[in-house]
Amino acid sequence: MHFKNKVVWITGASSGIGAELAWQLAAQNAKLILTARNEAALINIQKKCLEQTSFCKIVISDLSKQNETEIAVVNAWEQFQKIDVVFLNAGVTQRSLAFETQMEVYRALMEINFFAPVIITQKLFPFFEKQGSGHIVAISSMAGLMGFPYRSGYAAAKHALMGYFETLQTENAVAGVDYTIISPGRINTPISASALTKDGTPHLRNDVGQINGIPVEECVTKILNAVENKKKHIIIARGEYWLWVIKWFAPQLFYKIAHKKGMNN
Ligand SMILES: NC(=O)c1ccc[n+]([C@@H]2O[C@H](COP(=O)([O-])OP(=O)(O)OC[C@H]3O[C@@H](n4cnc5c(N)ncnc54)[C@H](OP(=O)(O)O)[C@@H]3O)[C@@H](O)[C@H]2O)c1
Repeated sequence: MHFKNKVVWITGASSGIGAELAWQLAAQNAKLILTARNEAALINIQKKCLEQTSFCKIVISDLSKQNETEIAVVNAWEQFQKIDVVFLNAGVTQRSLAFETQMEVYRALMEINFFAPVIITQKLFPFFEKQGSGHIVAISSMAGLMGFPYRSGYAAAKHALMGYFETLQTENAVAGVDYTIISPGRINTPISASALTKDGTPHLRNDVGQINGIPVEECVTKILNAVENKKKHIIIARGEYWLWVIKWFAPQLFYKIAHKKGMNN
């Protein structure tokens, strides 16, 4: 019960990993703040969480917009005048080849996957400094560690996220603040349905690779264990882990396998 009575803010709590984080943390009696755009979905999750914990608040926000994101940080803080842990989890993936992807799609992928977590972190620093503590959990991806077909913008954003948080871990400039980076491989969530295609329209399909991914419950249990143990970085993956290892030891083989697996996807 590490999270009992801890104030935990989850972005992207209306679906997938974020919703499962909410349920598992509610079961530990955490005080929750849930953020996403889809109010109806958040209200459903809130109701379910309130069966387990006494405190679960909602802060609706479109985190792809800087002004809304900054307001969301203040609103989230005001719920309990405290935040112990924040899961920077909201994200959108991509399904389009680089050469045909429009510039607006790259910008949209950077806004939600990179700039939103950076804006939240920068805005939380003064609060955490005053509080003398805080734990920031960045949900990155195996696509933050290696390129993969159809994900040029998503991989770029997650590489940027990795670079930002790894740097924070080396600077360690705000006393009492911890950072954990999570790099999941494929997890069974609806993420591929909202993936942006070449012109920004959603992919609207649950890819087979996604459905056959690691169960979201297993993924979230590992995330919470990593946060409890203040791990700097963990990978939660199956085949993608070995592809990453191959990248280091036999790069030529990596390009061949990634091409073969990714282009037929
Ligand atoms: N599933 C995987 O295989 C996998 C693998 C590696 C990394 N990840 C990462 O894990 C995180 C969660 O993904 P998931 O699989 O749980 O996907 P998901 O089920 O599609 O959930 C994505 C969440 O992000 C929120 N979101 C998207 N755009 C937003 C915006 N503009 N403003 C606020 N919230 C927004 C969505 O809420 P609304 O639509 O209601 O706004 C939703 O709650 C993402 O960062 C993703 O990159 C997932």
